[in-house]
Amino acid sequence: MHIIANWKMHGDADRVNAWISALKPTLKTLPATTNAVLCPPALWVALAAHAASGSGLAIGGQDCHGEEKGAFTGEISASMLVKAGARYVLLGHSERRTLMGETSASVAKKALAASHAGLIPVVCIGETLTERKAGRTIEVICTQMKESIPQGVPEVIVAYEPVWAIGSGLTPEVDDIVAAHRAIAEAARLHQLTHDKPVSVVYGGSVNSTNAASILGLSGVDGALVGGASLEAESFASILEAANACVTAG
Ligand code: PGA
Repeated sequence: MHIIANWKMHGDADRVNAWISALKPTLKTLPATTNAVLCPPALWVALAAHAASGSGLAIGGQDCHGEEKGAFTGEISASMLVKAGARYVLLGHSERRTLMGETSASVAKKALAASHAGLIPVVCIGETLTERKAGRTIEVICTQMKESIPQGVPEVIVAYEPVWAIGSGLTPEVDDIVAAHRAIAEAARLHQLTHDKPVSVVYGGSVNSTNAASILGLSGVDGALVGGASLEAESFASILEAANACVTAG
């Protein structure tokens, strides 16, 4: 189970330190199978890794470049994130796909670069409201799976994030989440995406301390990617506790 905090463009050094300190008691209660991850803005990755050292909290970037190095002003490579202490990287978030014009092909290239550098890529996919209304959800996510994830990487996490559920307070019906996660797991097997571990599929889009337990308990849901509700340590801690309860319940 992975519970991943995506801070987007929020927070500062003081907040990183305070958040990690406040979370430490909860982190101590997590079983080895529950992984808590903080993805702060890139500037705070090294600081967060330092503050989180020994706490069980892992750190991730929010994006990386597909090349190892070069003339790419403003960009950050996967190996730079590794050197700063990151173990994960979010890739292909819908905000980047929509606002920065990222394509599935560029996401796949980044995922390969991240894997080569030793990071675990967290590749985000999900349908828009128009696609959902047209009954195209499964088709869209299966295409995104095929095009955004390179074959044969050691490990990958897929974040199923319906675009319309992000930051909206809306979530799909539980049956729809289960169906989407099942389709993603099947697509991952079909395309033989990973060779070390089966693909984990986390859900993202308006997860909060109130709905976390019911979402995390669903079949095929291996965790959550949390935006807004991850900014306050208290609400993120309740989501970790909900994950704990699900793991304990088996
Ligand atoms: P949200 O964001 O939890 O605020 O909906 C999730 C995300 O964008 O990863």
